[in-house]
Amino acid sequence: MGRPEEQRERWNEAAERWRRNGAIVRELTAPVSRAMLDRASPLAGERWLDVASGVGDPAALLREKLVPEGTVVLSDLAHGMARTASEALGGTAPAVTAAAEALPFRSVFDGVTCRFGAMFFTDPPRAMDEIRSSLKPSGRAVFVVWGERERNPFFGEILAAVREAAPDAPVPAPDDPHPFRYAPAGKLAELLRSRGWTDVEDEPLRFDVAGPISQGEFWDFMRSMNAEIDKLAGELPEDGRAALRSDVERRVAPYFPEGTCRFPAEARLVSARRPASG
Ligand SMILES: C[S@@+](CC[C@H](N)C(=O)[O-])C[C@H]1O[C@@H](n2cnc3c(N)ncnc32)[C@H](O)[C@@H]1O
Repeated sequence: MGRPEEQRERWNEAAERWRRNGAIVRELTAPVSRAMLDRASPLAGERWLDVASGVGDPAALLREKLVPEGTVVLSDLAHGMARTASEALGGTAPAVTAAAEALPFRSVFDGVTCRFGAMFFTDPPRAMDEIRSSLKPSGRAVFVVWGERERNPFFGEILAAVREAAPDAPVPAPDDPHPFRYAPAGKLAELLRSRGWTDVEDEPLRFDVAGPISQGEFWDFMRSMNAEIDKLAGELPEDGRAALRSDVERRVAPYFPEGTCRFPAEARLVSARRPASG
């Protein structure tokens, strides 16, 4: 499962790189934030909590819908990431350093968003209980997790290249914290139902990861954003690293049709409610 302290340390170490790349991450994943907002349907004046805020998405978009009477509170396991999120929103939203498994809120939020965070929880059942307890009765939550690796070539092609270059590297078990942990259709939905959530809906979310990043920049960008890829690449001898870079560039070439990236991608959009009583 991965220990909470290890996860916290890992994300704190990554925070500066995520801060630097925040604007590009926002652009590459803008369709996901919009889809979450559509599903969440936040109303002006409501109070929302964004869990695992990272670079501040979808909290930034959410806040625009809620102000001036409403609020969004940012939360993240890692202090560095909570600070990154706070800066991304120009200090306009309170930020809390807290694991999803230990949230300091009871029945206060109309809604919760969590984008690309649930896959990394160290104790998902407990996290889902805590998120539910943070909501008012009938409050709603919207999660996005990555879909299957094969449908996400911007990630999948790189992981495949890295695994070929480092065939002995350990492969994460299905329930280890990793990006594709909730890729199987229905897996996160089933967890939510088993923890007493109602109105659970789970659907694929297809979009393009598109934005101003060139083929030459892509490998360095992905290395800087993913600790697993960076570690495996860093352990290769110099000629192995150069060969890996060339292999990645060859694999992703079709996704740079006009010099900037456009990868087809698939996530899962999963929403649920806290029961009216309970
Ligand atoms: C891939 S980033 C996603 C950030 C942002 N929501 C986005 O979509 O760009 C994952 C985030 O989850 C946070 N995280 C990991 N485990 C967590 C946990 N158990 N509780 C709360 N946050 C966690 C990390 O610190 C990191 O900021």
